[in-house]
Amino acid sequence: MNFYLNTLSFLPINLAEPFTVSWTAPSNIALVKYWGKHGKQLPCNASLSFSLRESRTTTKIVFTPAKELKVSLDFEGAENEKFRERLEKFFKGLGEVTHFFKSIDICISSSNTFPHSAGIASSASSLASIALCVSSLIYHVTQKDVDDGFYKLASYFARLGSGSAARSVFGGYSVWGHTNILASNDEFAVPFKSYDPIFHDIQDAILLISESEKRIGSSIGHNLMSKNPFADIRYANAQKNLNKLADTMKTGNLKQFFEVIEQEALELHAMMMVSNPPYLLLEPNSILIINRIKEFRESTGLNLGFTIDAGPNIHLLYFEKDKEEVLPFIESLRQYCEKGRIIFDGLGNGPVINHMTT
Ligand code: PMV
Repeated sequence: MNFYLNTLSFLPINLAEPFTVSWTAPSNIALVKYWGKHGKQLPCNASLSFSLRESRTTTKIVFTPAKELKVSLDFEGAENEKFRERLEKFFKGLGEVTHFFKSIDICISSSNTFPHSAGIASSASSLASIALCVSSLIYHVTQKDVDDGFYKLASYFARLGSGSAARSVFGGYSVWGHTNILASNDEFAVPFKSYDPIFHDIQDAILLISESEKRIGSSIGHNLMSKNPFADIRYANAQKNLNKLADTMKTGNLKQFFEVIEQEALELHAMMMVSNPPYLLLEPNSILIINRIKEFRESTGLNLGFTIDAGPNIHLLYFEKDKEEVLPFIESLRQYCEKGRIIFDGLGNGPVINHMTT
């Protein structure tokens, strides 16, 4: 019996009385990318990310006993039918394992700290905050005190909703997926803690290149990996890169750190370009900024570099100690961002529970 079934088997048939809970969870940025999945949202390779400080989602859920499952969603004061349907599917999946989620009214209200149209994926922070609410419900019903297992459980649920969300239930760095060097696994993420203190101070200037919705979403992208002729090479490279990254983070080898993460970012986009059908999410300004970052690094010798999500935005990573020299450079890139938008983010401490006033 897996970890999840084991926990759910202790739930009663029905919720006895209403329960309200609210969590705020961060978005995260992957340094070694998860790209390609199998089975029930299991990753084809391990990934390593850090949780962000500023880009967060707050979710409040009122769970009420009911005759059948009903999921309603208020996203920043409006309905969002597409996301509500996705969440309904998520909760139906839980109902297939335990009757408990078959007869419950789930009323969700959610908002992000980052602009809705910024082109930042909110699924990681949204699903992580929802999963934390579900874990709170389960711990409340089974009268358990929060322990390490609480976050594992939340990560497990988050993963079922959105793979990368599994890593957003922790602060700092985390790893999701089996590796041969860390005690990590495919079912839920675990914190990654053995690194040089310099990595506490990592900063992330998110250069927003386009506000449009992605032409091809992540779930299509993951599925296209199953027929990608380079998939096996990619999975082997990801494994090597994760080992290398863990090593460079331990020793504080910053040059190698940026070499690995840039290779990862470009390899992710290369996979899209060699999919069938092939596609491209980078925009001309993404490439222009990548080149500017390389030139600036060569001319100053500073430790900085980039990573990229499954979209055109560039995450410029640097360290707090170099802020004075790097900030004017970041400002010089503002002209290439849509509506001049940049989000100044960095390593965050992870999710927090919100104490309810009503
Ligand atoms: O969790 P998903 O299905 O949105 O996939 C996320 C994929 C990347 O952001 C590109 C990489 C990652 O590891 O977060």
